[in-house]
Amino acid sequence: MPVRLLSVKETRVTTPTARVQQTADATSGAALGNLDPAPPATLVIFGATGDLTRRLLVPALINMEREGLINPSSTVLGIGKDAGDDEMLRTSLETFGAGHFGEGDAQRIEAWKSLRPKLRYRAGDFTADQIYTEIAAELTGNAVFYLAVPPRFFGDIVEKLADHGLTTEADGAFRRIAIEKPFGHDAASAKALNARILARVAETQVYRIDHFLGKETVQNIMTLRFANMMIEKLWNSDSIDHIQITAAETVDVGTRGSFYDGTGALRDMVPNHLFQLLSMVAMEPPISFDAEAVRDEKAKVLRAIRIYEPEEAAENSVRGAYTAGTIGDRTIPAYTETSDVKPDSTTETYVALKLMIDTWRWAGVPFYLRTGKALTVRDTEVIVTFKPVPFAQFPRLKNAHLPPNRIVIQIQPDEGISLDMLIKRPGIGVAVEPAVMDFRYAGLFDIGRLNGYETLIYDILTGDQTLFQRADAVEAGWRAVQPFLDRWAEGGAPEPYAPGSLGPDMAADLLARDGLAWHDLVTR
Ligand code: BG6
Repeated sequence: MPVRLLSVKETRVTTPTARVQQTADATSGAALGNLDPAPPATLVIFGATGDLTRRLLVPALINMEREGLINPSSTVLGIGKDAGDDEMLRTSLETFGAGHFGEGDAQRIEAWKSLRPKLRYRAGDFTADQIYTEIAAELTGNAVFYLAVPPRFFGDIVEKLADHGLTTEADGAFRRIAIEKPFGHDAASAKALNARILARVAETQVYRIDHFLGKETVQNIMTLRFANMMIEKLWNSDSIDHIQITAAETVDVGTRGSFYDGTGALRDMVPNHLFQLLSMVAMEPPISFDAEAVRDEKAKVLRAIRIYEPEEAAENSVRGAYTAGTIGDRTIPAYTETSDVKPDSTTETYVALKLMIDTWRWAGVPFYLRTGKALTVRDTEVIVTFKPVPFAQFPRLKNAHLPPNRIVIQIQPDEGISLDMLIKRPGIGVAVEPAVMDFRYAGLFDIGRLNGYETLIYDILTGDQTLFQRADAVEAGWRAVQPFLDRWAEGGAPEPYAPGSLGPDMAADLLARDGLAWHDLVTR
């Protein structure tokens, strides 16, 4: 079904012409909305020569510059361990920045030209005082310290920044810290890291990043639920049978072996990315859209995830690791043959879990989560399956099994929302047919150029913590997965699965024993 965009104002507009006009206005609006530029600030990026900065942060800054969201007097101070000067950073970024702009990218090329001279670079050791003395000598006013570095540096950098007075907010200036994932390695280490950081800076200064929260469709879950009466009224165990959350990837571990082997699929994806989706889907309506009100509700859901006993953790989880094989024309070595991975590694590259949320709203509704590398397609989605109709009183279908309604929230690729319904097939007599109402973002908006970090960086600069993880929520997430980590640490090995498959067969059994099946992964 084609879907038109109706603006909020349209509730009182009825003529077809006016509708078309409103749709056109909204579609041609700036991709990031018509926002004011963020306040002036120095963005200090630790890890300026790293992959994250080149692939995601700088492209996002270019998009923000294009949209006029970066204050003209803001600057970027890159800190890295590689020797070099400002020009080295600018040139190296160009490999992934200006040098890679395609045809029709004139605006982004202009944006890069204007951003380029604002980038500076200092080389230094994050764990020694020297670099902090240098930063302190040149930094005044507002600053964001962005830790795009391996997690072992998080605590050290925050302490050094505080030791050098760099986190002190004086004369109305803000000093904020953005911290990438993984935040902690398990429940105990996340708690210890929070304690270490919060001993030196206030929670209001800390922006724990989960880049899934920058994704448009993830944020849209709140709007879908809380701006649509017909959805939220049914959003509970009276009407919903079960919920599936999938983040399937085709990429293998590749060159990330040294990080991944000590991490695995569960730590890498579940307490952060998948739990962000789960908490958006399962939270109660917040009393306002203030950051704290939203974060309170998200934290409550994570705290309500049932903490399993060891036996329950074993029964409600499946872990897998891919074997050697091919996906299309890509040849993939077995996970255990990946460079920097131990040949006898028992690290999982796939995990499926059945979780329960012990609240009135969700009593008895299973949440099935799965994520894995080297799978058949890239597909991140939330599937909400409603209960079947209690009785099919269609004359020719008495007692027939009618497929249940489903809402499919497609996070990526091809962001959108669809609704599976049943309709009457045209003709004489009643024949029931499934039909899909399908809304795709790309059909209405130009969102293709954004990578999600634009929103997150803008929010840090403007002091909006809604899309960032609060300390208590991070710890609650880790507590919920700790029983699986503990159980797996006792022994055993992941189930093998072939690259390009849907994961290990046992993951299908996890649902089959409840009379269910995983939603088909689709390539769009
Ligand atoms: C990262 C994980 O946080 O998220 C990666 O470390 C994973 O292993 C990535 O591939 C997935 O993010 P996206 O945005 O590509 O779905």
